[in-house]
Amino acid sequence: MKVDGKHYRSIWRERDGWSVGAIDQRRLPHEFVVAKLTSCEDAAVAIRDMLVRGAPLIGATAAYGMALAMREDSSDAGLKRAYDTLVVARPTAINLKWALDEMREALAPVDPVERAEAAYARADEIVEQDVEINRGIAGNGLALIEAIAARKKPGETVNVLTHCNAGWLATVDWGTATAPIYLAHERGINIHVWVDETRPRNQGASLTAWELGHHGVPHTVIPDNTGGHLMQHGMVDLAIVGTDRVAANGDVCNKIGTYLKALAAHDNNVPFYVALPSPTIDFAVNDGIKDIPIEQRSGTEVTDMTGRTADGRLETVRIVPEGSPVANYAFDVTPARLVTGLITERGVLKPDRASLAAAFPERIARS
Ligand code: MRU
Repeated sequence: MKVDGKHYRSIWRERDGWSVGAIDQRRLPHEFVVAKLTSCEDAAVAIRDMLVRGAPLIGATAAYGMALAMREDSSDAGLKRAYDTLVVARPTAINLKWALDEMREALAPVDPVERAEAAYARADEIVEQDVEINRGIAGNGLALIEAIAARKKPGETVNVLTHCNAGWLATVDWGTATAPIYLAHERGINIHVWVDETRPRNQGASLTAWELGHHGVPHTVIPDNTGGHLMQHGMVDLAIVGTDRVAANGDVCNKIGTYLKALAAHDNNVPFYVALPSPTIDFAVNDGIKDIPIEQRSGTEVTDMTGRTADGRLETVRIVPEGSPVANYAFDVTPARLVTGLITERGVLKPDRASLAAAFPERIARS
C-alpha cells in the first residue's frame, strides 16, 4: 500500500540481500522509521517488543528470523535453537508457529551448507504468499461490500467498522480486514471506515488511521465505546476485523474488545465479518474460548499514554493513580455464533468446523 504516493511493504529483504528492513511500528504515527534486523535475536526482539506486530507479519518476521539464524549457525542445533527462540516471542498469534513449522520442514532435509540460502528462499515465499492470500481476501470481501453498496442509493457511503490494526502494517501488504476496503476504495466505491482507537496500545488510532490516511481512504477514529451507539443508529453497514487465531470450531481470537463489538453487532443485526489468511486457522484447537492462550501484557500499556505535545515533543504521561492495580489482557475470543462469516482467500466461509475443514483440508492433515 502507499505512504504518500510511494509503495511500501511492512517488511522486506534489504539491498544487501541478507538483512531485513521493517517499519518500526512503535514509532507510528509520529515518526516513520525503518529498522534493520541483522540477527535471529533482532527478529525475536522485534516481535517481542512489537516493533512488528499483527499475526501475519509476526509470522513473516519469524521466517526471516530463521533465515538470519541460518547465517549464524546452520547446524541442526542452530535450527532448533532458532525455532525455540522465535516460537516463544509472542503467544497468541498462531501464524508465528505456522511460519516456523514451514521453515523447519523446508530446512531440516537440506544440507547445513545450503541451509541459509534455502531459508531465505522459503522466507521469501512465505512473504509473497501472504500478499497473494490478502489479494484473495480483498476480492472475496469486496463482493460483500459491493452487495451492500448495491442496496444503497448510487454513491451513498458504505460504512465499515474495524478494530485494532488488521491493515497492511499487520501483514506484508494489503492487510486482512482492510484488504477489501482498499480494493473497494480503488474500485470507486464510496467507503468510510470507523476506526476503533483500540486501547490500551491504540493500534487503531495510531496504525489503522495512519495507513488509511496515507492511502487516502476516508475514515474516522472513534473511542472504543462508540461502536454500539453507531450501530444502533444505522451508521455501520458491516464490521470487518482481523484475527490472531481461529479455532477449528470457528471461534475467533482477536484484539481485546473485539468480542464486545461482535455482541453489539449481533444485537443490531450488523453483519460481523472476520478476515483471515489460512495460516491463522489452528485446527489443533477445538474450542477457542477454552484453549487459545491469551497474552497478558505490561500494565504500563494501561497506565501510561504517549503522544505528541503541541510543541512537537513525544511525551509519556501516567493516567492511572499511583498504586491502582491494572489488568492488560491483550486478546479475547469471539464465539463463532456471533460471526457472520470468515473472509478467507478461498471464499467467505461459515464459522464452523465443517466449512473450515472443507475449504482447507490440507491444513487439517498437518495439524
Ligand atoms: O497485539 P497486536 O497488535 O499484534 O494485535 C493484532 C491484532 O489483534 C490484529 O487484529 C490481528 O493480528 C489480525 S492482523 C491481520
